[in-house]
Amino acid sequence: MKCKMTINKMFIIDEVDERIYGSFIEHLGRSVYNGIYEVNHKDSDGNGFRKDVIGLVKELNVPIVRYPGGNFVSGYNWEDGVGPKDKRPRRLDIAWKTLETNEFGTNEFVDWAKEVGTEVMMTVNLGTRGIDDARNIIEYCNHPSGTFYSDLRISHGYKEPHNIKLWCLGNEMDGEWQIGHKTAYEYGRIASETGRIMKIIDPSIELVLCGSSNTSMKTFGQWEETVLDLAYNEIDYISLHTYYGNRNNDAEDFLAKSIDMDEFIKSVVAVCDHTKAKKRSKKKVNLSFDEWNVWFHSNASDDEQASWQIAPPLLEDIYTFEDALLVGCMLITMLNHADRIKIACLAQLVNVIAPIMTENNGGAWRQTIFYPFMHASVFGRGKVLQSVIECDKYDSKSFSDVPYVTATATYKEDSNELTIFCVNRNIKDGIDFECRLENFEDYKVVEHLVLYNDDLKAKNSVLGEKVMPTRCENTFLENGILNTKLNKSSWNVIRLKKIT
Ligand code: AHR
Repeated sequence: MKCKMTINKMFIIDEVDERIYGSFIEHLGRSVYNGIYEVNHKDSDGNGFRKDVIGLVKELNVPIVRYPGGNFVSGYNWEDGVGPKDKRPRRLDIAWKTLETNEFGTNEFVDWAKEVGTEVMMTVNLGTRGIDDARNIIEYCNHPSGTFYSDLRISHGYKEPHNIKLWCLGNEMDGEWQIGHKTAYEYGRIASETGRIMKIIDPSIELVLCGSSNTSMKTFGQWEETVLDLAYNEIDYISLHTYYGNRNNDAEDFLAKSIDMDEFIKSVVAVCDHTKAKKRSKKKVNLSFDEWNVWFHSNASDDEQASWQIAPPLLEDIYTFEDALLVGCMLITMLNHADRIKIACLAQLVNVIAPIMTENNGGAWRQTIFYPFMHASVFGRGKVLQSVIECDKYDSKSFSDVPYVTATATYKEDSNELTIFCVNRNIKDGIDFECRLENFEDYKVVEHLVLYNDDLKAKNSVLGEKVMPTRCENTFLENGILNTKLNKSSWNVIRLKKIT
């Protein structure tokens, strides 16, 4: 089997917005407590932040992290989580049926983000609360001083404003599971008014409007049309969320699911541009894919958890090698839409459907999905090139004409680095891969990294990594043509650089 790819330095989709390598920390399970924050852990710093986890987050090079939810935010009073810790109330978290101690809140998260070297993407509660809550939290976070909430922040030890630039107007407000969920009309109105007021307080912020929770929502499409119609002028991005699972144990169908993601993106872009035309607007609304991942392994065990525990293990999917392949396909899909996707958050970051896992009082380790995300985040910067790919296709249970190879290429002009990312979805055979590099004179192969395991169900654990990248030494570039063999079911990162 063969695959031919062609790229040209001049044919560019767009610059990668680094925020597409964002992630997400929600007050859920062991994400915050015993994830990023564990006061009595031997490896914690003076703030109670686990240094081993910070090290792994830094490896992922995550430029922005969404907080504090997720479903959690729709019942959250942010005031509970600021000020003296001994005065903070314990609350029932209705979204996940757990007990929230509020020991960790907005200021702790901002401190953690600073230590990690990442920006904060904050979500406001449009479930149980609304305009009043949103105007207060933005005054607390971003207003310099001289008002009730800005002075309250200063009294809590934060003289300088947090200057949080990106805000989500609620979370998954179309879902009937959401606390205070709304019709598209109800949500569009409250989002538009909330956004307007927030931008009066800080005109430098950007706002994300809630789109559909996934493509199977009955209201998908109509929801986007209505909320965009009502809030177009106030907002900057619309959100997309999606999670996939291999419930039928059908690897060929599972690995094709990034095609659903691709269609989702195209549909939302179409509604955005339809609204733009209808309004004769000059403004382009882009996409924030602010929750995406594989999520299904933990569904059954989560149902067995008792209610109202503090930080129980929830949504602790242990990922397989095939999950890492789909994560790779999803990253490639998003990169190929770099012209419209400006923000994306791998959901989530630690312990909860996450690339990083921790043991309470113990070690931290990398899941299989850690690697494709890290490779894309570290090497997939610069410009995304338009690639033309010719290869065989297959039909799976839910998709037809699925290309065996999905690929993209990014080019960093300043350092003359070119990176090709590709997944071979063929689970039986390797593929001879040829890539024609046009306008890339004097380049050489730096390395070809491969994520591969004979067993699609191989997993990592705190005891060791069965799934980790190795190097392929049989990748050659001659006369502008790159040749290699892609292992069956493999994630590949081929790095090239100009000879100087
Ligand atoms: O990421 C887990 C949950 O998935 C989030 O809380 C919610 O927004 C989504 O349904």
